Amino acid sequence: MQRPSILVARAVFPEVLERLRAAFDVEANQEDQVLAPAELARRLADKHGVLTTGAERIDAALLAACPRLRVVANMAVGFNNFDVDAMTAAGVQGTNTPDVLTETTADFGFALLMATARRMTEAEHFLRAGRWTQWRYDLFAGAEVHGSTLGILGMGRIGQGIARRGAHGFGMRVIYHNRSRLAPALEAQCAAQYVSKDELLAQSDHLVLVLPYSAESHHAIGPAELARMKPTATLVNIARGGIVDDAALAAALRARRIAAAGLDVFEGEPRVHPDLLAQPNVVLTPHIASATLATRRAMANKAADNLLAFFSGQPLPSPVNA
Ligand code: DGY
Repeated sequence: MQRPSILVARAVFPEVLERLRAAFDVEANQEDQVLAPAELARRLADKHGVLTTGAERIDAALLAACPRLRVVANMAVGFNNFDVDAMTAAGVQGTNTPDVLTETTADFGFALLMATARRMTEAEHFLRAGRWTQWRYDLFAGAEVHGSTLGILGMGRIGQGIARRGAHGFGMRVIYHNRSRLAPALEAQCAAQYVSKDELLAQSDHLVLVLPYSAESHHAIGPAELARMKPTATLVNIARGGIVDDAALAAALRARRIAAAGLDVFEGEPRVHPDLLAQPNVVLTPHIASATLATRRAMANKAADNLLAFFSGQPLPSPVNA
C-alpha cells in the first residue's frame, strides 16, 4: 500500500520529524515561515495529512483545493484555526494536543499575573536604563497577589490549574465564570466559587482569561466589561487574541480605568496594537505560555501520535471532530 504523504507546515523537533519520516512521505516546511493560504493549498494539493501549529487556517476554501487531505493535526490545544464544520463536511479529521501543556501553561499564566501585578518588566526597564538612583518607599509599588481575589474566565483544564495555584499556593479567594459550572468535587479541588460574569468582572483583583476563542467569545472583554472592572485590577490574557478588544484595552490602560495587563496573545498577532506597545503598565510576551522544551516536545509528539494513529486505524488520542 502507498505510504501516506504529509506536510509538516512549520519547523518541528528533529526527532519528531524522524518519527513521521519512518511512517510517511514527509514534506517539511524548511523555511519556517507560516505558509500563506495559497501556498499552503498548493503544498497540500497532493497530501493526505498535515501537521499544523495553529497559525494555518483550515477552511472550506482550502479543503476544496486539497481533495486528498484526510487529517489535520494541530500542535496546539486551541483549534480556532479550524473550521470544524467545513472539515467534518469534507470528511477531514482534526486533532489537537490537550493535557500535555496544561500545567506548563498554568505556570506561565501565574508568572504573567505576578509580573504584571508586581510591575516586573517596567521595573527592569527602569533599572537597565540606568535610572535607579536610590530605594524609595513607593518605587514600582504594585498590587498584592497573595490573599487577593483571583478571577478566572474559562474554567477548563488550564483555568483549573491556575485556580489551584492561586488558592493553594497564594491563599487567594478564587472565583470563576464558565459556560457550565464545574462539578462540586472539581470546584472543591480548585477551591473555586462560581459567579456570574458581571460578578467576576466587578470582584476580581486579577482576572485571567483562559477561554477558547469562538464567535461567542470574540471581544468577551471590551469597553463595557473593562468599565465594570476595579480600577486597581490586572487583566491577564493567555487564551487567544480576539477575546480582548485590544484597542479598548489600550484605551482603558491609558486612562487607568484598570491598573495593568499581561498579554501573551493579541488580535492579529504577531502584530501588536501600537497603543499597547506604548503603555508602560502592560507586560507583553510573544505567545509563549506553553513554551518549555519539554512541553513543546510533548505537544509535537502528541500531534505526531494523532497522525500515526489516524493512518494505522487506531483510536485517536485527541480528536476534535467526529
Ligand atoms: C495552544 O496550545 O493553543 C497554545 O496557544 C500554543 O499555541
